[in-house]
Parts: sequence; structure tokens; C-alpha cells
Amino acid sequence: MQLVPLQIAIEPAPLPPRVVTTLASARARIDRWFAQPGHQTGIGFIPSDYEQVWHALAAIRREHPDARRLLEWGSGFGVVAGLGALLGLDAHGIEIDGDLVTSANELLAEHDLRATIVQGSFVPMDFVDAGLDDLETRTVLGQPDAYDKLGRDLDDFDLVFAYPWPTEEELYREIFRRGADYGAILLTWSCQEGMRAHRKVAGAERPR
Ligand SMILES: C[S@@+](CC[C@H](N)C(=O)[O-])C[C@H]1O[C@@H](n2cnc3c(N)ncnc32)[C@H](O)[C@@H]1O
Repeated sequence: MQLVPLQIAIEPAPLPPRVVTTLASARARIDRWFAQPGHQTGIGFIPSDYEQVWHALAAIRREHPDARRLLEWGSGFGVVAGLGALLGLDAHGIEIDGDLVTSANELLAEHDLRATIVQGSFVPMDFVDAGLDDLETRTVLGQPDAYDKLGRDLDDFDLVFAYPWPTEEELYREIFRRGADYGAILLTWSCQEGMRAHRKVAGAERPR
């Protein structure tokens, strides 16, 4: 199996009012989170670019209407899962930090957004068992995965969103390559790469 780049035709339309209000209260929560005494910047939660993610999700919704079940890996405040819910997706998130799971569920409830967020790791246990837990990564490795709590496996999702650190892009792609269903889409945002989408397809990986 391999991942092939997927072009997404982003249309920069104005944000719908519900997106604007949801993002405003998400930003207020995020500001309070960063202002907490003792907060260490650069580790744990960092927000992605939610406007760009909204436009990318909306484009995927238009162009790939069969992609209905979304999982946000490392969901933080659950904003991307919430944006997915606004687009009518069956939205889920997995987040390692229990306080963030609580905040995410509060934010989603405040805006009447249906998304399921659970605490645990998005890294499947069998992936950790493959001996990759000593990689240098900001992603927490070696913790129990949360797929049972969702009642779903990674290959039940049509669309996964993640914000990897630059050194983690390949790690995330490898987790997806091994565990996602054929045809599923991995959407990532990062400062360096911006928005990128890949689809898992059958066939041998080409040498890079
Ligand atoms: C860069 S932040 C992105 C947050 C959110 N997706 C967004 O776009 O705003 C990465 C998040 O992943 C979480 N995280 C790190 N390792 C994790 C793991 N193994 N499983 C689940 N969440 C994890 C962190 O606590 C953090 O909230």
C-alpha cells in the first residue's frame, strides 16, 4: 500500500456565521490555556490554522461526499472535529491530555456540535509494539490507544486530520499507511507544509 498526494481545490469563501462564532470561543479558550501559570510553550497543544482547515474540509466534503467519518488525531480543543460536525461529518477526536478532552467537550456542547472526543492515544498499540517508541517525537508514544473507547478502529475512518511537527510527518503517514482503510484520506496542516492531503491506495510504495 502507498499514500498518493491528493489535490484539493480550496475555494476561499467567507466563513459561515456558525464557524465564526465557534472559532471565536475556541480562541478565547485557547488564550486562557496559554495564559495558565506554569504553562510551557512549545510542548503539547498548539493550534492549527482553523480557517485553512475549514476550507480544506469543505473542499473534501464537496469533492469526496462519500468521506463521511472524520477522526482528529491529537484533537486538543476539538476544533477540527467541531468544524467537521458543522459540515455534517460523523466527527471524532482522540486526545492524550484529559484536561483538553474536558475543554473540547465543553466547547462542542456550548455550540451544539455533535462530535465524540475520547482520552487516550491515537497511535495504535501494535504500532508502538513495533519498536518505534524511542523515536524523537513530541507525539506521546507507548500509551494505550483509544480506538476501543470510540468503538471503532482506525480503518473505520474515511478522513483523518492531524497537525504533526515537521519531524513527525513521516511517522504520521506511516501510522496511516499501516492502519487506515484503502481510499481513506489523511489531511495534515503544519507551519512548514501548510495543508496537504494524501489518499491510501493499493500498490507497492515507490522508492523516494
Ligand atoms: C499540535 S497539537 C494539535 C491540536 C489540534 N489538532 C489542532 O489542530 O488545533 C497536537 C495535540 O496532540 C496531542 N497528542 C500528542 N500525542 C498524542 C497521542 N499519542 N495521542 C493523542 N493525542 C496526542 C497533544 O496533547 C496536542 O493536543
